[in-house]
Amino acid sequence: MFAVSIILSSMRVLIRNGTVVNATGRQQADVLVEDRRVAAVGPAIPGPADRVIDATGRLVFPGGVDVHTHLDMPLGAIRTSDDFGTGTVAAACGGTTTVVDYAVQSRGHSLREALDEWMARAAGHAAIDFGFHVCIADLRPEVEAEIADMVAAGVPSFKLFMAYPGRMMLDDGEIFRVLRRTAACGGLVCLHAENGTVIDLLVREAVRAGHTAPGYHATTRPAALEAEAVHRGIALARLAGAPLYVVHLSSAEALAEVAAARGRGDRVIGETCPQYLLLAAAATPDAEDARTAARTVISPPLRGRASQNALWAGLARGDVQVVATDHCPFFLDQKAVGHADFSTIPNGAPGIEHRMALLYDAGVASGRLSAERFVEVVSAAPARTFGLYPRKGVVAVGADADLVVFDPSGETRVSAATHHMRVDYNLYEGRTLAGAVETVMARGGVIVERGRFVGPAGGGRFLARAPFIPEP
Ligand code: URP
Ligand code: ZN
Ligand code: ZN
Repeated sequence: MFAVSIILSSMRVLIRNGTVVNATGRQQADVLVEDRRVAAVGPAIPGPADRVIDATGRLVFPGGVDVHTHLDMPLGAIRTSDDFGTGTVAAACGGTTTVVDYAVQSRGHSLREALDEWMARAAGHAAIDFGFHVCIADLRPEVEAEIADMVAAGVPSFKLFMAYPGRMMLDDGEIFRVLRRTAACGGLVCLHAENGTVIDLLVREAVRAGHTAPGYHATTRPAALEAEAVHRGIALARLAGAPLYVVHLSSAEALAEVAAARGRGDRVIGETCPQYLLLAAAATPDAEDARTAARTVISPPLRGRASQNALWAGLARGDVQVVATDHCPFFLDQKAVGHADFSTIPNGAPGIEHRMALLYDAGVASGRLSAERFVEVVSAAPARTFGLYPRKGVVAVGADADLVVFDPSGETRVSAATHHMRVDYNLYEGRTLAGAVETVMARGGVIVERGRFVGPAGGGRFLARAPFIPEP
């Protein structure tokens, strides 16, 4: 299988007559791929080629970069349902050619052990290139000292949780210590910003009062507690002289904190996810049956229409820089353990496959985003922020030949019956989206054709990423 992938990816491939869209502009052009990289972009590139792909009427994007996934992640006695094999095939079918997954430190263990564990799960299994962030759950002095080693090993980003006390949460002093370290060595903190202490209190009170249906997950995690945590995280980062990346922004209130900080010149970067742009919480906690409501038990929770509109405006304006998925899938039966007590439902939902199609449909086709801004938020900005640019995130000479040929007049039908993710529901079941991923190349080899994965299993490579460089 490895020999086949070498032969395929050293071919000379010519993508003819497409509209090449980068974050900085578009051009009618051919793209020549040689030796796994983009060798030329321009009009009427001469042959011969081993393979010609006709992209007339098609858009040619750089491959998508999804910087927030949880593949093969243990959670108590269960684990997320997609492993690096199934999850990255699904990602590829949707036009994503790079993932950066969260390796989680176990209490009493080192960051290096987390990285080694996740490397063993991904290497030889991932169908597309992959990198890692590390979640720090146990900040002993020797762990703090490991932060610079991780940056040097190509893992320069660290997730810290302000939520999940007793499991993942760090206190403010610990968060400040990590921010100071990362500021000194080119690291970047990715912050899960929800006030876990107050949320835990609200959850316990709700359960005691008999408010146990899955819909109460959302009411016990109000937007004010996300905004408060974002505000606190930004204040700590400013004091530490550190940049800050706020993951999965879900609410207008939290976004306002990011926008205010950016307005002051703070180096704060905001991420949101399709679910927060496109889905709303049920009108009341008891509005849905338990099985339906359990599907969207994610943290932070879904909000209302006003937050969706604010996030779209933030994306268009530039206060939200990245759209990632927070792909964290569990089977419906795994979610069902908490039908009678929402606090026991595993948090997370699937999404790795349809990020590009959903954003194209609701962003570009609906007139909310230009095609260039779409490329910026799904590919260029995540690549830049996480030390992968210009190897990833751009169609340009010298970049890895990770390319998506996208048919803007095609359509994508979303259903759990046909998706590639190993999970038995889809948050967007039944939707028909404008535009379709047609062909996907990863480092010069065609891995998706007409919606089918045709690449080698386990063809992805580990990406050692560069330290964080602030925007000028
Ligand atoms: O509910 C979610 N988002 N689960 C995944 C873990 C996280 O906090 O990102
Ligand atoms: Zn999180
Ligand atoms: Zn996550």
